[in-house]
Amino acid sequence: MAWTLPADLLDALLALAQRSQQALQAALHAVGWLPDVHGQPAWPWVQRLAAEVLAQEPQLARQATALLACVLGLGVLALLALRWRWARWALAPALLVVALTAPWPALALLQAPAVPTSWHRSPTGFTVQSITQGAHIYQQQCVRCHGADGKGEGPDAAGLPMWPPTLNGSLLWKRLEGELFWRVRHGMQSAAGVQTMPAFADLADEQVWQVLDYLQAHAAGQLLRDTGAWAQPVRMPQARVHCRHTGATSVRQLQGQRLRVVLGGGVAALPPDDPRLLTLWVPAQAVAAGDPADRAECTVQEPDALPVLAWVLGQAVDGDQGLQGAQGAQMLADRNGWLRARALPGQGGWSEDDLVCRAAGPANAAPTRPAASTPPAADGLEALIRRMDAEPVRLRRGGFPH
Ligand code: HEC
Repeated sequence: MAWTLPADLLDALLALAQRSQQALQAALHAVGWLPDVHGQPAWPWVQRLAAEVLAQEPQLARQATALLACVLGLGVLALLALRWRWARWALAPALLVVALTAPWPALALLQAPAVPTSWHRSPTGFTVQSITQGAHIYQQQCVRCHGADGKGEGPDAAGLPMWPPTLNGSLLWKRLEGELFWRVRHGMQSAAGVQTMPAFADLADEQVWQVLDYLQAHAAGQLLRDTGAWAQPVRMPQARVHCRHTGATSVRQLQGQRLRVVLGGGVAALPPDDPRLLTLWVPAQAVAAGDPADRAECTVQEPDALPVLAWVLGQAVDGDQGLQGAQGAQMLADRNGWLRARALPGQGGWSEDDLVCRAAGPANAAPTRPAASTPPAADGLEALIRRMDAEPVRLRRGGFPH
C-alpha cells in the first residue's frame, strides 16, 4: 500500500533541507570564504537541493526520508564506533548495505539548478511604497513584453524568440524569490543559448525587489479574479498607520490581531465596531488625525495604499473607474498578517464562503468538523473567524516554507 508522508513530516523535511543549506552558506560566509553578491552572501554552487519535487512526488519524499534515515543511522553508528568495538565491526557491513540498497537515484532528482542569489531574501518588507515603486518600474521596463495585464502579450511580445509567460498564475510562487531576482537582473537564456529575456543591469538591486513586489501583488489579484481564490497566501502590505488608542504606527505592529481592512468610502460608511476585529481604514483621501467622525481604530496614512490593495483584489486601477471597484470592499487579515477573506462592495455581512485564502492540503479537501461540544456559530463572521483561526496558512516559495 502506498504510504504518503504526513504533511507535518514533509514540512519538517523541507524546512531541514532549506535551513541546512542556508546554515552552510552562512558558515562559509562567516569564515570569509564566500563573497557578497547583490548585498547578501553568494551561493557558491550551481546546484541546490530542490523542494518542489519533494512536495509533488510522494514517492521521492519517501525515498528522501529513507536516505536521510540511513545517513543519520550511519552517523550514529560511526559515533558509537569511536567507543565500542562491536560498532566498529558493524560499520563496514552497514555501509555496504546502505550503499547497495539506498535509493540513490532520488539524490539526482533532488537537485535543482542554482544561482548565486538563490537564497537571497527580499529586503523590501512588501510595503505599499515598494509595490507602488515597482508598478512604475514595471510600466517603464516590462510592459512592452509582459503587457499591462501581465499576461505576456505586450506590444513587443510577438517579435521575441519566445512568448513571455503569463505572470498572473502561480508561476512567481513556484520560484525562490532570489532566483526571480537573478533572472530579472541578469536576463534569461534558452537551452540553446538564445537570449529570451534581456538583463536589467541598469536597475538598482532595490528596484528589482520592488518590481517583484508589484508582480506578486498584481498576480494575487489576477488569481483572485480568475479563480475566485488567493491560491497563494498574500500578506497585508506594510504601511504607516495612525491608531487612536494603541499608538501603533505601522501595520507590522498590528500583527497578532485580526484586521478588518475597509477600503475607501467616507467616514460615515465605516462599519460599526466589532470586538473580534480591529478596523483598519484605508481612506481614498488623507483624513485629518482626530476627525471626530472617524470611528476606525486605525487609519492608513499612505494615499497609495488604496490602489495597491485594489491590485491585490484584482481590480483595475487605471482611471477612477478601477478604484471605484475597490471602494467599499473589505478584507480580513488573520493574526499572522495574511489576507484571508474579502467582501465585495455592498455585500451584507460575512460568511464562510468569503474565505478566499484557505489552508492547502488535506485540511482543504475535508474541512475539520467542529467538535460536538463547540456551540454553533452565532453569525457568518463567527463561522469565518473560526475557520480562519483553525486553518492557518503557510507561504511556500519554490516549494520551501517561507
Ligand atoms: C524584451 C521582452 C521582455 C522584457 C522587456 C521583459 N521581459 Fe520578462 N520575460 C520575457 C520572456 C521572453 C520571458 C520567458 C523567458 C524564458 O522562459 O526563457 C520572460 C520571463 C520573465 C519572468 C519569469 C521568470 C521565470 O522564472 O520563469 C519574470 C518574473 C519576468 N520575465 C519579469 C520581468 C520584469 C520584472 C521585467 C521588467 C523589469 C521584464 N520581465 C521585462 C521577456 C521580457
